[in-house]
Amino acid sequence: MHSYPVDMTQKPLIKGFFDEGTNTISYVVKDPATSACAVYDTVMDIDYAAGEITYDHADAIITYIREKNLNLEWIIETHVHADHLSAAPYIQQQLGGKMGIGDKITVIQDTFGKIFNEGTEFERDGSQFDALFADGDTYTIGDLNAFAIATPGHTPACMVHVVGDAAFVGDTLFMPDGGSARCDFPGGSAAELYDSIQTVLSLPDEMRLFMCHDYGPNGRDIAWETTVGEERKNNIHVGSGKTKADFVKMRTERDATLSMPKLIIPSLQVNMRAGNVPADKDGNPMLKVPIKGLKNT
Ligand SMILES: [Fe+2]
Repeated sequence: MHSYPVDMTQKPLIKGFFDEGTNTISYVVKDPATSACAVYDTVMDIDYAAGEITYDHADAIITYIREKNLNLEWIIETHVHADHLSAAPYIQQQLGGKMGIGDKITVIQDTFGKIFNEGTEFERDGSQFDALFADGDTYTIGDLNAFAIATPGHTPACMVHVVGDAAFVGDTLFMPDGGSARCDFPGGSAAELYDSIQTVLSLPDEMRLFMCHDYGPNGRDIAWETTVGEERKNNIHVGSGKTKADFVKMRTERDATLSMPKLIIPSLQVNMRAGNVPADKDGNPMLKVPIKGLKNT
């Protein structure tokens, strides 16, 4: 296994922004020593039925960064989300920063380029982003050292980003009582997700983990922060010694019962373009709906 440059002595300041429409948490991660910051997994609001996009969630993040006089260095996606649209280009336009995602985005672009029957003008080389991370790649946020861990399973391009003593787990894990993310999208794999989760759980017990989603299972309040130690002990899908065979069986059976996320059709088309809405031949923003199913069968 890759050995990652973990440094628990660096403690970034982290502010979560919960999006009620999609149960997504976006994060502003600040270097305590400088004004540098990064944002992870931003959200652009869409009223799909009305064909209308708004920016309340992204504007709250922009206001926060401006009020604190922060310098935005990175706008990072843990993966190509299927349940919400990224606001990365909208934020970049106003605050700068480099957009980054996992280098396996090319696999996602190839898969969904075919499903949405995109023409050759849709590039499948990740060039819509400023940076593509491979497993173990490092970067900095001011004086903070950060690195990316490839965590395929939910999707082939998923990554967990570690900044000092904090990790942004994307859809690899949910809170201990939420378990794990589905693996039935094209390119998903429950066996791969199990292995990826084991990599995350091999990080130090005290590492803070920040979720991308929370649905408040069993009526509890929304929460998004836990630790590696907590997940290892208590996660209902992978905690306290559950085997890979148990996990794959549970995940496969459960995924078969799930309906597709409400916003998967717009989300994939926009997010595989780094948050840009596609245009029709006359340049009008326009989305497609393929009528052939999206399940990973
Ligand atoms: Fe996801």
